[in-house]
Amino acid sequence: MNKRTLTVGSLIPKNLVADKVFRPHSSYMEDINHTEGQKLNNKITLSQNEMRFEIQPVQGNLLDIALDQGQTLQYKCQKGTCGVCTVKVAEGASYLSLPNEKEQKKLKSALDVGYRLACQAEVL
Ligand code: FES
Repeated sequence: MNKRTLTVGSLIPKNLVADKVFRPHSSYMEDINHTEGQKLNNKITLSQNEMRFEIQPVQGNLLDIALDQGQTLQYKCQKGTCGVCTVKVAEGASYLSLPNEKEQKKLKSALDVGYRLACQAEVL
């Protein structure tokens, strides 16, 4: 009898693993590396259409929080499809959730340089 030990990783075909690997963008990794689990600054700094926005991090959806705090971020669908809410995260990326599938599909390699969909990103 063959007593092969199966793990979750061993059940996933190798070609699927390579396609689904997420590589966090550099500013996210800088925040993680510099803070060692703690937050650097008590704010999230975003830019959109050459405008700069500062947001105090509270738990919830990034777009909702920004709008609640009086920031005039542009948005449209709020479903992760139009891309109007795209922002570049300059500071505070460590407060944010990892990009979801909609962000990965819409932003592709722009995620690697700090872009996020505000309507999809969550402040943790
Ligand atoms: S508002 Fe359309 S993708 Fe966010």
